[in-house]
Amino acid sequence: MADEPGHVAVLVDEVTFLLRPRHGGWVVDGTVGMGGHAERLLETGDQRARLLGIDGDPEALARARRRLARFGDRVRLAHGTFRHLRRHAREAGVDEALAVLLDLGLSSYQLDEAGRGFSFQREEPLDMRFDPTQGRPAAELLNSLPEPELARIIAEYGEERAARRIARRIVERRRRAPFLTTADLVAAVKAGVPRAAWSPRRHVATRTFQALRIAVNDELQSLAEALPQAAALLGAGGRLGVISFHSGEDRIVKQSFRRLAAGGFSELQPAPVRAGADEIAHNPRARSARLRVLQRLEAA
Ligand SMILES: C[S@@+](CC[C@H](N)C(=O)[O-])C[C@H]1O[C@@H](n2cnc3c(N)ncnc32)[C@H](O)[C@@H]1O
Repeated sequence: MADEPGHVAVLVDEVTFLLRPRHGGWVVDGTVGMGGHAERLLETGDQRARLLGIDGDPEALARARRRLARFGDRVRLAHGTFRHLRRHAREAGVDEALAVLLDLGLSSYQLDEAGRGFSFQREEPLDMRFDPTQGRPAAELLNSLPEPELARIIAEYGEERAARRIARRIVERRRRAPFLTTADLVAAVKAGVPRAAWSPRRHVATRTFQALRIAVNDELQSLAEALPQAAALLGAGGRLGVISFHSGEDRIVKQSFRRLAAGGFSELQPAPVRAGADEIAHNPRARSARLRVLQRLEAA
């Protein structure tokens, strides 16, 4: 089946090859999104295998439900965060998994269509929550966080060199009027970065938008908490695959896998799997994708 318009899943062949269920049991997709990976895992894996799909975004979940309907009761979907993976698994009756997948970040549907302010390309309310029922929208953070905290977020999560200048502009701007839309943030970033430092290849607000999204969704902490839960769920020989899209995420995955390797797990490949030139040509999002896979060792 073709991808539902709105999101092209990355590294699908690699995920299928490495995580496809080879006998009956559960696969847990902690970021089921549009259901692209889930669909392929269900199609290509053992027909007795079932899948629990979790997503924070109710709209994504509705799309996944439509796409995966033909698999009937092989699929269970749950609304929530993978930060509470253990609880979602328990509630679905999953006490052991053949595979767990986390495909991090946001889907192209969220970027292009959700209307929640993920993109600087359109004027939309500055929300940026994956799950609009939880937490505080981006505008609220911009209108209330102290300047040094804003600078830290932009520097750390966006690796933006002009972070302090941008934070200063944000605070100046909010004294005049509160942040409401993506255009307000784009204007503050533009005012904070000297024109000579604008990259010809990347929109000047890219890094700040990424940083704010990571802060709004507490993405790095959620990931750090989810990985040991996901590993604990694996049965003997079970595999955990994580696709990350920037160095902050990949660092957490790498460190967590290294710790787990001391206690009955091993990373499958010495280096992360990357997309080939063909895939990148069709899907630019794949350029920064890195897949790492951890395996629970078979019992001795
Ligand atoms: C890159 S997309 C996944 C796409 C999916 N693999 C597919 O093939 O369609 C990432 C998804 O993870 C969800 N997400 C991000 N952080 C989450 C979290 N902490 N808990 C649950 N879902 C999360 C987002 O809402 C988004 O739908």
